[in-house]
Amino acid sequence: MADMKLDDWNQRWIDNRIGWHRGEVNQTLEKYFPSGERSSTFFPLCGKTLDMIWVAQKGCQVRGAEFSQLAIDQFFEENKIANKSENGFIHSTESSFDIALKQGDFFEYPDDHKFELIFDRGSMVAVNPKDREKYAQKIKTLLKSDGKVLLQAISRDEEHLKNGPPFHLTIDDVKNSYEKIGMKVNVLGSYDDRSSIDRLGVIKINEIQISF
Ligand SMILES: C[S@@+](CC[C@H](N)C(=O)[O-])C[C@H]1O[C@@H](n2cnc3c(N)ncnc32)[C@H](O)[C@@H]1O
Repeated sequence: MADMKLDDWNQRWIDNRIGWHRGEVNQTLEKYFPSGERSSTFFPLCGKTLDMIWVAQKGCQVRGAEFSQLAIDQFFEENKIANKSENGFIHSTESSFDIALKQGDFFEYPDDHKFELIFDRGSMVAVNPKDREKYAQKIKTLLKSDGKVLLQAISRDEEHLKNGPPFHLTIDDVKNSYEKIGMKVNVLGSYDDRSSIDRLGVIKINEIQISF
């Protein structure tokens, strides 16, 4: 599978080739979202995921990084969330929500604010494999010392490997990236996903928690 450049991602949005986007809330997020806490939550490589709304509706602060301006525009338009541009973020202006998304390269996202939860679905698996260590390092700088990363890693079957991203990301790959920088990796569960069966075949989703 060839490396993806930022312009390739942008082109995906222009061509509306966004097969990863889901019309429902992610089941791993629903299952493992910390109850009773008003966590500030970060979505790296956020796209226009509806998961951000689900978390914001719980009264949590939501921040996201996305390279494609089109994705950010679609997120606010399609969900009819009033917004304004402020300090380099597109910010919701509705009192019931606190969502702000930053257009740009995730690796340049400001790390002056740390988060209790980082939800990683479609993010680490979208990063070129050679950049995984750099990615893990950046995630580490954005996580509070008692915070947690909730990650969906994806094991792909051989037959469909040429189609992608997502890149094949095994539990060992995750361990290699995060344990090397002193983080703990715990597998919470796993399930088979058939939602992209034509393009990707059956994919195995490993639900992983990462912490200090
Ligand atoms: C596979 S999609 C997943 C989006 C979202 N997490 C979801 O689950 O729907 C990856 C997204 O990351 C964006 N992206 C890729 N590389 C990026 C980077 N270095 N910085 C910011 N966004 C990036 C792409 O434009 C795309 O919207």
